[in-house]
Amino acid sequence: MTQPISAPRGAPDILPPDSRLHEQVELGAIDLFRRHGFQRIETPAFEHTELFQRGLSEGSDIVTKEMYTFSDKGDRSLTLRPDMTAPVMRSVIEHNLAAKGLPLKLYYVVPVFRHERPQAGRYRQFTQLGVEAIGSSSPYLDAEVISLAAQVFDAAGIDEVTLKLNSIGHPGCRSEYLPKLVAFLEAHRELLCPDCQRKIEKNPLRTFDCKVPSDIEIMKQAPLISDLLCEACAAHHEAVKDTLAQLEVPFVDAPTLVRGLDYYSRTTFEFTASGLGSQDAIGGGGRYDGLSEMIGGPQMPGVGFGLGLARIVLALKAHGTVPASNVQVYLASFSPDAQRVARSLAKSLRRDGLAVDMDLDGRSGKAQFKAADRSGARLVVAIGDKELAEGIVTVKEMSSGQESTSPLEGLAHRLKELL
Ligand code: HAM
Repeated sequence: MTQPISAPRGAPDILPPDSRLHEQVELGAIDLFRRHGFQRIETPAFEHTELFQRGLSEGSDIVTKEMYTFSDKGDRSLTLRPDMTAPVMRSVIEHNLAAKGLPLKLYYVVPVFRHERPQAGRYRQFTQLGVEAIGSSSPYLDAEVISLAAQVFDAAGIDEVTLKLNSIGHPGCRSEYLPKLVAFLEAHRELLCPDCQRKIEKNPLRTFDCKVPSDIEIMKQAPLISDLLCEACAAHHEAVKDTLAQLEVPFVDAPTLVRGLDYYSRTTFEFTASGLGSQDAIGGGGRYDGLSEMIGGPQMPGVGFGLGLARIVLALKAHGTVPASNVQVYLASFSPDAQRVARSLAKSLRRDGLAVDMDLDGRSGKAQFKAADRSGARLVVAIGDKELAEGIVTVKEMSSGQESTSPLEGLAHRLKELL
């Protein structure tokens, strides 16, 4: 016997009934994105490797450790996208979308790929729901984007969400700040873990991401960028906070939130949910005013977020949400003639907007009621020869077991009343 083939590690199949939850969250998010004036963008799953090397920076964990990079048959180095922000910016520059008027408001729902160590909530292929608002430096746009992400979680039904907010300033602020941070790290070098010791030279901001308890204690004493912002960056940050307060979006100040991508400037934020263990970030984002120039484009500011769909679903499940079924009505038929009628009836009920499933195999009545139960339908419409002769159907409400009859005429309306 040949060995059965399983999916690659860290690349999960999304199966019913969970897929229903994924779909529900995704559709809710898309509805919100559209109502905020965002339009959909799609880009290829792979890009020239250089896009990420330049856009995410050579020093970031994603570029050094986590990219799926390969050579194609023409010996070009390509990479499966590890995020969507750089590809969206590449596309905006390449097609001169800015000419259509700014800000550009784009959204996406796409798989992204990172070669991370798989664990609960951390995958190598995962779907991000995200938006990028490009072409405006207004702090009100930061607040609007953050408020939009908060609404996605709200609409999905996750209540215990924390929004962490910070500003890492513009590159000028960071060049003032970094020597102070490096001096602090050097003074504590011997006490830091080997990974953080390496980061002192390569990427000192990342030391704030360390999970080693003794390092976390040391970093509590480190100088903070939020204390060293220039006047313009401090004013921008205050305006973002004021607007969030006005929009009634609660947040906590997170002065060590630097995030794992190097294109950020000024606003950074992250949403966490309870009940998810260490992989509790259900979304994150920020402003990336220098990204366009990093990848060869004109000066073009931007702000956006990416939300992890699978983690949102895990958070929903942790809070006990039961997956809803999409089937509302199940048609059971008990003779070949009844089955004929049921097929036409299914078509017309679906046209009237109901979600309908039915038996197509002529199974026994018992088997059909079992299938109806499994489908999650709230109503079963039963058609036998007796009903056919009278031009009626029997409607059973699955939760109470209550039965009634209804004429075929006006059935959709009657069913909608009962749902
Ligand atoms: P990120 O924080 O790297 O940001 O990812 C955004 C979200 O994707 C995370 O908060 C998390 O929910 C989810 N996520 C990340 N890695 C994994 C994984 N291995 N498995 C499952 N879910 C994961 C970005 O990617 C930025 N491009 C966001 C952004 C958009 N910033 C500005 N615009």
